[in-house]
Amino acid sequence: MQTNLRGRDFISDLDFSKEEVETILDVAWDLKRKRALGVPHPYLRDKTLAMLFFFSSTRTRASFEAGMAQLGGHAAFIESKTTQISHGDTEKEIGEILGRYYDGIAIRHCDWGVGNRYLNLVAEASRAPVLNMQCDVYHPHQCLADLMTIMEKKGRDLRRKKIVVSWAYAASYLKPISVPQSLILQMPRFGMDVTLAYPPEFPLMPEIVEQAQQLARENKTSFEIISDPDGMAAAMDDADVIYAKSWGPLLTTTDPEEGKRLQDKYKHWIMDQEKLSRAKDDAIYMHPLPADRDIEVTSEVLDGPHSVVFDEAENRLHVQKAVMALTMR
Ligand code: CP
Repeated sequence: MQTNLRGRDFISDLDFSKEEVETILDVAWDLKRKRALGVPHPYLRDKTLAMLFFFSSTRTRASFEAGMAQLGGHAAFIESKTTQISHGDTEKEIGEILGRYYDGIAIRHCDWGVGNRYLNLVAEASRAPVLNMQCDVYHPHQCLADLMTIMEKKGRDLRRKKIVVSWAYAASYLKPISVPQSLILQMPRFGMDVTLAYPPEFPLMPEIVEQAQQLARENKTSFEIISDPDGMAAAMDDADVIYAKSWGPLLTTTDPEEGKRLQDKYKHWIMDQEKLSRAKDDAIYMHPLPADRDIEVTSEVLDGPHSVVFDEAENRLHVQKAVMALTMR
């Protein structure tokens, strides 16, 4: 059991080794049990977390804030637009200064080509650990909650279990590519066979896919890509886990109109009961939320017996508490 996480940043999914992720999950289950039993667990008493948001959030903000309070500390909600960042506060200044006030700095910055770089520059200057609340490349805490949920539903040994990470159509906005990228990086390390499905214009970052394929080879798992304009149905055969959600096109993430035009070609990429029926009888459906209801996924699937989206959202709280307790003490 590797426990040396104190003071460490968590920006990329691979910042922690597989053994360290196992430690986080162990702690997360302990904290989940303690909360259920009403056992106080103030591991971060008098500690503070800065939560700096450049982008909206429901679950991430709420779960980090609740988690810090349950650990005996305090989380400060800071929106970039109410700071002096637009008037010149640099990444170095944010890292230096917030790192002196707080015991951890959590940041959400999803702007394409900007977010991940921002987090790393703040981390370079900060004496306190930097935690990624989602950037343009990774959503690592979401992925830990996903892994915890899959293990709760499918058992701790995930070898030979098939996860389908599929693009789906959405009309609301061009969603970041960070969730599917985190999934394809983390799941092979835990033995899962990955099938990645998307329309031709919606690939993930080539360097992330290459890294994921290398991890699949190292862990002797399979990694299949299906890029078929006709839809996601073929990917679903015999799936244990279906993670179908929308993401924006890589090359046009900075051009919302062009991105939406591309997206609108694929309205038939909706996760529905017919596609779900091609998966295993006990398959689970996952989505990080928010979902475009009846556009990205049907209500029948989202609210149906295979959906685990609320357990998945709950587990954000437990894994984040585990990461904070291990890194910020
Ligand atoms: N899943 C997720 O990150 O949700 P929010 O965008 O609401 O934080």
